[in-house]
Amino acid sequence: MPISIDYTGKLVVVTGGGRGIGLAITTALAKAGADVAITYTSSDPSARAAELSAAHGVQVKAFKCEVTRSSDVDAMLEAVEAAYGKKADIGVANAGECSPNHVGWFQGFRGRLPAEFAPVLLCVLKCVGMLTCPGITLWKDAHENTDDEFKHVFDVNTFGPFYFARGLVRSWLGQPIDVAKGGDSLNVPTMKANLGKQILFVSSISGLVAMTPQRQTAYNASKGALTMMSKSLAGEWSHLGIYVNSISPGYVLTDMIANPPDETAKAWAKDWENRTPVGKFATADQIGEFVAVLLSDRQGGMGFMAGSDVVLDGGYTVF
Ligand SMILES: NC(=O)c1ccc[n+]([C@@H]2O[C@H](COP(=O)([O-])OP(=O)(O)OC[C@H]3O[C@@H](n4cnc5c(N)ncnc54)[C@H](OP(=O)(O)O)[C@@H]3O)[C@@H](O)[C@H]2O)c1
Repeated sequence: MPISIDYTGKLVVVTGGGRGIGLAITTALAKAGADVAITYTSSDPSARAAELSAAHGVQVKAFKCEVTRSSDVDAMLEAVEAAYGKKADIGVANAGECSPNHVGWFQGFRGRLPAEFAPVLLCVLKCVGMLTCPGITLWKDAHENTDDEFKHVFDVNTFGPFYFARGLVRSWLGQPIDVAKGGDSLNVPTMKANLGKQILFVSSISGLVAMTPQRQTAYNASKGALTMMSKSLAGEWSHLGIYVNSISPGYVLTDMIANPPDETAKAWAKDWENRTPVGKFATADQIGEFVAVLLSDRQGGMGFMAGSDVVLDGGYTVF
């Protein structure tokens, strides 16, 4: 019998699931029968969620959540449980940003704006040349990074995924999602359980090698921390049947790199392509479909894969 992938009855939460790699992951999972809760902070993907629901007979719903604020992440996870009437089976921590620049400045404010104002502000900033598009960077030398810029990249790429994983696991352990609310005194290392849950962090090869020629120390460091965090959490939770892994994509054609803002960035993009042995960038769909296979029961992840970082980079890190 042919091997097939079936997520029917499973609920997956994908942060930043409304565009780029996150949307591709959401689409692949929805096609495979999963209900998917997607989060956003600036661009409301509700219309796309409705289209995916109708096309695949599943429930894709959008939830606003600024991942840099743990209270937002906790509230989002509570809202997801209420909306679907059950706990998530899988969490994909995908939301991320690249380097410190005006984007960081914009991101810091947009979470506090009503959703409909953020695209307007984005458009104004683009017009006055302060911004290219979210994720596209005006890469900056480390010695010029301000405290806020450097910290913001970690807030999104490292702290956000931690809040998300902590909230999911607290919920799976029957504890209040908000850590400040306490809960039972659990001796987790001695507990035995087979919860059958998964967390996947979307990290980056930037956590393995320093990308060049652009300068993006904050991003590289934040992803290195994320990859290590994934392994550490696998060490804490695998015996409970919570399988934690990460993927490290190389260059993928999303907003983050698809539209180089100027001639320098265009030259860099050519350079990145040349440094990638397969000679091209990945598409978001390739990553999305890979993730749907990786997280499926068929892959083996539900049982033995824990603390792994899967590199998907067209060979970039070979040399
Ligand atoms: N593109 C690449 O070459 C590449 C390579 C390796 C790894 N990655 C990683 O893959 C992930 C997705 O990247 P992408 O290329 O798809 O990026 P993207 O197209 O720029 O999308 C970024 C996503 O993250 C969300 N997001 C950003 N900041 C957020 C915040 N503060 N709070 C909540 N959500 C936030 C965005 O939400 P809104 O839509 O609401 O703005 C959006 O959905 C990131 O973690 C990135 O580091 C990308």
